[in-house]
Amino acid sequence: MQNTQVTLASYPEGFPAPANFAVVNSALPALAEGQVLVKTRYLSLDPYMRSQLAGRHISGSIQPGDVMLGEVVGEVVDSRAPEWHTGDIVRCMGGWQTFSVHHHSQLFPVTNIKKISHALSILGMPGLTAYAGLIWQAMPKPGDVIVIPAATGAVGATAGQLAKRAGCRVIGIVGSDEKVAYAIDTLGYDHCINRKREEVAATLDTLCPNGVDIYFDLVGGELLHTVSARLAVGARVILCGMIAETNSNERMAGPSPALWIKSRATVYGLVVYDFEPRREEFIDDCVDDVNAGKLIMREDITSGIENAPAAFCKLMRGENLGKVLVKMI
Ligand SMILES: NC(=O)c1ccc[n+]([C@@H]2O[C@H](COP(=O)([O-])OP(=O)(O)OC[C@H]3O[C@@H](n4cnc5c(N)ncnc54)[C@H](OP(=O)(O)O)[C@@H]3O)[C@@H](O)[C@H]2O)c1
Repeated sequence: MQNTQVTLASYPEGFPAPANFAVVNSALPALAEGQVLVKTRYLSLDPYMRSQLAGRHISGSIQPGDVMLGEVVGEVVDSRAPEWHTGDIVRCMGGWQTFSVHHHSQLFPVTNIKKISHALSILGMPGLTAYAGLIWQAMPKPGDVIVIPAATGAVGATAGQLAKRAGCRVIGIVGSDEKVAYAIDTLGYDHCINRKREEVAATLDTLCPNGVDIYFDLVGGELLHTVSARLAVGARVILCGMIAETNSNERMAGPSPALWIKSRATVYGLVVYDFEPRREEFIDDCVDDVNAGKLIMREDITSGIENAPAAFCKLMRGENLGKVLVKMI
């Protein structure tokens, strides 16, 4: 059997292009005692991968020639470990490739989740990120006004629905009219602003005359300043992502702390890995609603491992609508 892999060909300058990646074939190694062979079904593509390419992500970095890292859901196709059997569905760090070999301790079972791709989205790392930031850090109360940028993406769409479930008034910010319509009509946002067409500051002033209680920051940059200038007293700011700056080597100056002092804000830094020990608690709370279709996740699916680079570049340009996944064919 051949393994098809995507490796880094060259470091991107600014936004990545498919030419920064290479598709290679290699032979599969024989399994050692205690190892398991996994056939990828879905590969998750996530913004943190661009930071790995820039050598500034806490999960590690990638060098030219390396297989790209990434989480997958796959099927055990061979096992030399009694813990795992052919046909088991597992979640693991399989990388951008069609097969991966793991020590048995590096696999996690995917059970009770009706649609296995959800283990990479709303019931996976992005869902845990949204849950940890919103429920465990911000602790929303009914009536809180919450603002969420990248509102239809993997983390944002989950946070938006959880905020509605908690009784908040939820305002999204997105990059297209199609996303505005999806956020309001399907995800249940109360309002959604097209950041490319509307004046965000003025629209927030109209929508939130008493200020913003929770800002779930997924983008950093200018928006962090704009919303920080409009916080209600006692606000919570969740600093979770900086995608507005991900493709740049420059770092923008942050908002003045005066804005957070004035609103007596609590500002949290969020790293999802810290909440890994609580993953089951989060899944227990959400799995029934996800399986029943009460919490949903649109998937932006590309078929074929060789198309992963183009799908990743599309994500970096903000052209995805929903969780970006690559389905193996
Ligand atoms: N701290 C953690 O542990 C953790 C864990 C997971 C994810 N994150 C972060 O959470 C954020 C969202 O991740 P995701 O996986 O859910 O991605 P995503 O939202 O599915 O995709 C990224 C979205 O960001 C928006 N965007 C891109 N450039 C932007 C810009 N210049 N200004 C404003 N918005 C921009 C685009 O949406 P629009 O065009 O609709 O605005 C794009 O679709 C990322 O910053 C990611 O790094 C952090």
